[in-house]
Amino acid sequence: MGSSYHEVYAGWRSDPEGFWANAAQEIDWITPPTKAFDGDAGVYGRWFPGATCNTCWNAVDRHVETRGDQAAIIYDSPITDSKTTYTYAQVKDEVSALAAVLIDQGVAKGDRVIIYMPMIPQAVFAMLACARIGAVHSVVFGGFAASELATRIDDAMPKAIVSASCGIEPGRIIGYKPLLDNAIELASHKPQACVILQRSQTVCDLTEGRDVDYATAVAAAWGRDVPCVPVAATDPLYILYTSGTTGQPKGVIRDNGGHMVALKWSMKAIYDIDPGEVFWAASDVGWVVGHSYICYAPLLHGATTIVFEGKPVGTPDAGTFWRVISEHNVAALFTAPTAFRAIKANDPQGDFISKYDLSCLRALFLAGERADPETIRWAQDQLQVPVIDHWWQTETGWTIAGNPVGLGALPVKLGSPCVPMPGYDVQILDDEGNPVSAGDMGNVVVKLPLPPSCLPTLWNADARFQSAYLEEFPGYYQTGDAGYVDADGYLFIMARTDDIINVAGHRLSTGQMEEVVSEHRDVAECAVLGIADTLKGQIPAGFVVLNTGVNRDFEEVTAELVKLVRDRIGPVAAFKTVVAIPRLPKTRSGKILRGTIQKIADKQDFKTPATIDDPVILDEIRQALVDKGMLD
Ligand code: COA
Ligand code: AMP
Repeated sequence: MGSSYHEVYAGWRSDPEGFWANAAQEIDWITPPTKAFDGDAGVYGRWFPGATCNTCWNAVDRHVETRGDQAAIIYDSPITDSKTTYTYAQVKDEVSALAAVLIDQGVAKGDRVIIYMPMIPQAVFAMLACARIGAVHSVVFGGFAASELATRIDDAMPKAIVSASCGIEPGRIIGYKPLLDNAIELASHKPQACVILQRSQTVCDLTEGRDVDYATAVAAAWGRDVPCVPVAATDPLYILYTSGTTGQPKGVIRDNGGHMVALKWSMKAIYDIDPGEVFWAASDVGWVVGHSYICYAPLLHGATTIVFEGKPVGTPDAGTFWRVISEHNVAALFTAPTAFRAIKANDPQGDFISKYDLSCLRALFLAGERADPETIRWAQDQLQVPVIDHWWQTETGWTIAGNPVGLGALPVKLGSPCVPMPGYDVQILDDEGNPVSAGDMGNVVVKLPLPPSCLPTLWNADARFQSAYLEEFPGYYQTGDAGYVDADGYLFIMARTDDIINVAGHRLSTGQMEEVVSEHRDVAECAVLGIADTLKGQIPAGFVVLNTGVNRDFEEVTAELVKLVRDRIGPVAAFKTVVAIPRLPKTRSGKILRGTIQKIADKQDFKTPATIDDPVILDEIRQALVDKGMLD
């Protein structure tokens, strides 16, 4: 790219529309955009109005002529001990056949399709098949419970669901079919058809009249010519549900045109990857990292992506990542810091690392949660490559702040995801909406309009989009994060301003967990908080007040609460810690002092709030934590 970050960012600032119009030239359009941005359309404006395109064409078909025999997807599954490589030409065949199956099931442009699948290539084929026919996919992470799937079915109202017989976690097989059947039963909306991939680890019964066997249907449709349907650049490509502050998740919408433009640009500028190279995002297609950097961006760029079905440790050991990198010639790895904390805990001296030739690896990218300096230092020492933190969200789909290696990396400051990317005017405001001085903490906001790929709104919920993101600071998008910018313009993300927590890089709502815990018949009141955890960054802990007169063994109640959250939200909530307390600390006006409880649990200094109703309770909470062995 040649030019430095500062020049590129200044270039964007002086001509934002010109910057993105230029980046848009990397995309094959059916009707090219005549205008990059329309500030009068949508909630805060829309990118590439009037243009038409197809995302599957850009991710697959257009590469078949120039790189048809190159690997597009490498499936590496240590958990099932299998590997398969699909070239671009083969991906086109797989995707076209699955698209034909969806059409035969009545799916047409604009219809929604839920994808509930483990980390297998068919999950990516399903995403691309939807994109091919203009259907809108919504991938649901496999670690969510049936009721979470049901909520998404009712919100997205899919015509079809693509799923598999099972997912595999270390030591256990997760039958997806019972979860799927249960979700469909719970939901008011019923899909017309379910296309089910039978995996050899568990073969499930198919429901007559509704379920279609994936392999049989794809074989029957093999070779059918299914053209890429033209869609508006502003049409939705997918909906991805993410935790909000209540039990109702937010349906983040991604459009087709802006998404492609931003993601394609990011591959060289941020990750310094050239077409033909191997890029590995060790995440899951159920999360935004999986959408953007397992599926779409590497393929839009003509790179090779890896679909990895396994864990950083235990499948079979802490050397798995290094084996995958050396075996597949990975140029850049992108994962969450928690994966490195897990590896470090298992292999502190890096003995596994020294067993592999990692000379192909040029950089490690971390996101999804705060990258703690100790983990970064360990990774730097062990891998001897730049370790790059970058900060973004499901809502944006790509980096808000990062260190763009392809533009010439800036010096790393530990604990900072670095600087804003072109497209983002990041500012720090106090609670009254005034800018704060360098170094002062405040609300991290982005001046509108947001750049291409960011959500234009929430699915069927413009008013919620306004109230959740745009209302508090007029003219700005509220990220929900708190932090500061230092004198050199480096951003530091320190905390959330809402009840969202990050557990092993997974975004969860403590408010939602409180709703579930409160339903237990013996619980009078509760507060669920994220407390510090050396492996997962944070874990949820429930502080529970039992109803007067309940005199049960608390271990029993705990087991019931753990099961309740697991059944209602899913194992991914990692809700295992419950502390019995006599009362919740509150202000005199009745507000629960969650921050104070959290500080006690995290052994941080705190001042007893002046407005506290009953200060004695803080000592009682500390004692309860000591009794549980959580504090000395
Ligand atoms: N399907 C079903 N269950 C799942 C699941 C899935 N796709 N993913 C996770 N779970 C289950 C786990 O088996 C675990 O169950 P358990 O309570 O019975 O042990 C539970 O959900 C919690 O999972 P997790 O928080 O991931 O903990 P873990 O101990 O299984 O693994 C790590 C810890 C650090 C190894 C793991 O979180 C990891 O690899 N993280 C990498 C980061 C990442 O992928 N982030 C995504 C965003 S970039
Ligand atoms: P998700 O939508 O799941 O990607 O989660 C987004 C949230 O995770 C952000 O709003 C932050 O709170 C947190 N997050 C993601 N990346 C980082 C990072 N690099 N540093 C600090 N926090 C991060």
